[in-house]
Amino acid sequence: MKIVVIGGTGLIGSKVVSKLREHGHEAIAASPNTGVNTLTGEGLAEVLKGTSIVVDVSNSPSFDEAIALNFFTTATQNLLQYGLAAGVQHIVALSVVGTDRLARRRPSDAEKTVRGYFRAKLMQEKLISESPIPFSIVHATQFFEFVKSIADASTNGSVVRVAPALIQPMAADDVAAAVARTAIAKPINGIVECAGPQQFRLDEFVRQGLVARKDSRTVFADSNAGYFGVEVDERTLVPGDNAQLGEITFKAWLAQSAPAAVA
Ligand SMILES: NC(=O)c1ccc[n+]([C@@H]2O[C@H](COP(=O)([O-])OP(=O)(O)OC[C@H]3O[C@@H](n4cnc5c(N)ncnc54)[C@H](OP(=O)(O)O)[C@@H]3O)[C@@H](O)[C@H]2O)c1
Repeated sequence: MKIVVIGGTGLIGSKVVSKLREHGHEAIAASPNTGVNTLTGEGLAEVLKGTSIVVDVSNSPSFDEAIALNFFTTATQNLLQYGLAAGVQHIVALSVVGTDRLARRRPSDAEKTVRGYFRAKLMQEKLISESPIPFSIVHATQFFEFVKSIADASTNGSVVRVAPALIQPMAADDVAAAVARTAIAKPINGIVECAGPQQFRLDEFVRQGLVARKDSRTVFADSNAGYFGVEVDERTLVPGDNAQLGEITFKAWLAQSAPAAVA
């Protein structure tokens, strides 16, 4: 089967392409680096010829609301328009567990941008679910690979403050496996959630991530700190009971990845 992966050169996309190829599919990585740009439409008609399945794991160049909203609105509209013309039978998009909750939260004064990003992701999901193309939306939790970015966004001097909310993060490899599995299955015309094998408190997750990298910042749990400047309650970031769980533990992932990050 020919499967086009929009954002197929990115963190998740490159892994999705490899996994689909391992299963014998013709997976094409489509992104500006390979001459396909969903924002402008460049290369879309050509790459979608003869494709029945499209996976969208692209990302906005910024968390800024205006930039992210323009990216996910325009790129998704183009993808759906060209996909419909090419006879695509299944579109799969990757989004985030809790997108709807995070998009509706009150932003703190300090940082409004991440809520705007989730509003943009919600727009992407809305456009896809309203299109005539059968679809599946994969909601993944935070990637292990994202732990330093969470810490950096919550740092003041040498102190990191995050809310003690629950989080069930997962390895990018497990995210890619869930996306690839969903792509070759029948469209569900809805959302499937996937998450890591264990829950943590956000402060504990960040602390373990920093310690493994020999990063000396001190992490505090602070209920007012939120997540990227957005208020969160205990369960805002975690999935419901039916999430598909990945296999890779944070401990195993750290053992493999942290030495490279420290080196
Ligand atoms: N971070 C998290 O914890 C998390 C959790 C759940 C879900 N997600 C979602 O996961 C998705 C993928 O994230 P990621 O970290 O894998 O992203 P990434 O590594 O930043 O990769 C982004 C990809 O999008 C491509 N792209 C950018 N602009 C494009 C355009 N105009 N047309 C076509 N492709 C374009 C890039 O292509 P080039 O290489 O050519 O620039 C790249 O292949 C995102 O949608 C995000 O919302 C993230």
